[in-house]
Amino acid sequence: MDVVLYFCAMQILDGKIVSQAVKDDLKAKALLLKNETQKVPHLAAILVGSDGASETYVASKIKSCSEIGFKSSLVRLPADVEEQTLVSAIQQLNEDKDIDGILVQLPLPKHIDENKIIGLINPDKDVDGFHPVSVGKMVQGLPTFIPATPYGIMLLLKHYQIETSGKHAVVIGRSNIVGRPISILLNQNSNPGNCTVTVCHSRTKNLKEICLQADIIVAALGSAGFLTADMVKQNAVVIDVGITRVDDPSKKSGYRLRGDVDFDAVAPLTSYITPVPGGVGLMTIAALLTNTFNAATQNNN
Ligand code: GUN
Repeated sequence: MDVVLYFCAMQILDGKIVSQAVKDDLKAKALLLKNETQKVPHLAAILVGSDGASETYVASKIKSCSEIGFKSSLVRLPADVEEQTLVSAIQQLNEDKDIDGILVQLPLPKHIDENKIIGLINPDKDVDGFHPVSVGKMVQGLPTFIPATPYGIMLLLKHYQIETSGKHAVVIGRSNIVGRPISILLNQNSNPGNCTVTVCHSRTKNLKEICLQADIIVAALGSAGFLTADMVKQNAVVIDVGITRVDDPSKKSGYRLRGDVDFDAVAPLTSYITPVPGGVGLMTIAALLTNTFNAATQNNN
């Protein structure tokens, strides 16, 4: 009987190393910009309510700004804020010449119209890339702000020189924040890019069979441990976007973070895989800071 031995040298796509490299580069560029023009990139974040995960993300964004010499401002509003108050806060930030980038942390409370709010941000300051003008430009392949998580994934693929051209990429999830934009970017005529992309979602039939055909899987549905080993082809590249808090009494916080991928079982099958934490999450911040730097240097403030 022939024995087929698979030698699969799995490599971790290390968001810690790559995001640090991006931040080091931005720090040097920010210093140069300040010395030459006195300009310091300035990010404004709006946080409505006190959702634990949103608090953590925003705190992380603010901290990263100070680490690389950017300015940041945080506008906190209560969960029951009237929509008009949020509208006014955005208008004020739009008009403030010192502010280069504006982000409204999502999700917003249910009584607020998220699309309306995003649509009020000046596209020149739309460092999240969620405004319809930014999305339209991205779809057309024009220069614009790319949403931070998909942008971070592209930076990671580029850093590790992962071959994507002609590959079948399966994206699980169709959110405006991750699934839909990463499907567009992977499909574009660029490097990374040029994938044949299948976007799967909650109504998709035969998800397992589709995933088994994937050379690249982006799991972005927000369900801890969803992608299991029986869904992954040998040597696939697996990008885990999920960050779910699961109870863990052994931790001081009472929880730990889990991705959408059953990492321990899936990792040995893969050629490359992102860990959680330490993967895409850190890249999201690096990408946001890159967008903020570009906003500070490109717009007409
Ligand atoms: N909520 C989850 N991800 C994001 C993000 O990238 N930007 C904002 N503003 N909110 C989010």
